[in-house]
Amino acid sequence: MKKVSVIGAGQVGATAVYYIAESNFAEIVLVDVVEGLAAAKATDFLHSAQLRSYNPDITGTSDYSLIKNSDVVVITAGIPRRPGMDRMDLLKTNVAIVRGVSKEIARYAPNAVVIVVTNPLDVIAMAVLRETGFALKKVIGMAGVLDETRFRYFVAEKLGIWPGDVMAMVLGGHGNEMVPLKSHTSIGGMPLPDLMPDDEIEKIIDRTRNGGGEIVKYLKEGSAFYAPGASVAKMVEAVIKDEKRLISASAYLRGEYGYDSIFLGVPIIIGKNGVEKIVEIYLDENEKAALDKSADAVKKGVEELNTVF
Ligand code: LAC
Repeated sequence: MKKVSVIGAGQVGATAVYYIAESNFAEIVLVDVVEGLAAAKATDFLHSAQLRSYNPDITGTSDYSLIKNSDVVVITAGIPRRPGMDRMDLLKTNVAIVRGVSKEIARYAPNAVVIVVTNPLDVIAMAVLRETGFALKKVIGMAGVLDETRFRYFVAEKLGIWPGDVMAMVLGGHGNEMVPLKSHTSIGGMPLPDLMPDDEIEKIIDRTRNGGGEIVKYLKEGSAFYAPGASVAKMVEAVIKDEKRLISASAYLRGEYGYDSIFLGVPIIIGKNGVEKIVEIYLDENEKAALDKSADAVKKGVEELNTVF
């Protein structure tokens, strides 16, 4: 059985475990530094295993040695946003947390593909890459899948159709400057601009950019977890099953799209090695300008990272 470890037993980590367990494709280890937290959640999952027909191979622990030889490690450890905060405001606190986590991953699971969820994830992914010293393709940030599922839902809601029939791409950093691509959004092959007036599309793009923020505002403490957890599960499954799916995710770029040495959300082929391929699609002038702006926001974050690590 393949092995997946999830670091951080907060809302996102536990929800990711829930969706992964329900899909029955891996042994799962949930780790949290808070003594008892991961054990409590794992035990609770085990009690529901027979009701939901999943494999009761789930362990909750504070002991990192149990992640040994994981095929995939998901990092969710860190603090979430509060209302009024930008994801970048979390940087210093979460870099310190994630550096400690990365050392443990390098020690116990040196061959794992690492999926980074902790925000600001495009910058945190860089910290993980530096601390683990892993190959570039082994470290991937989770965001495109999440931003796209929100975008697809908003489009579907407006058109009164099923979200699965909306194809869409959201590129760039996982922040307010993310870039939902109008030109790559379609419903049954029909381009979105043929089905919806431009001002409606713009409203949806704006709502997508603030999709996470909308939930932070409702919750006041903490941020979204169901859609983030489901997005993690989709990526983990693609790696474990070597699916070679085309998804958007934050990958380390070396010249692709004209950017170098940063993580940025782009279409990738994801499989057992992590980033199997970075796919370069055509962007029109406006989309490229928007992506530049988003990349600038990530670069600013990396400059800040450079002052602490
Ligand atoms: C969100 C957080 C997880 O977008 O970044 O909901």
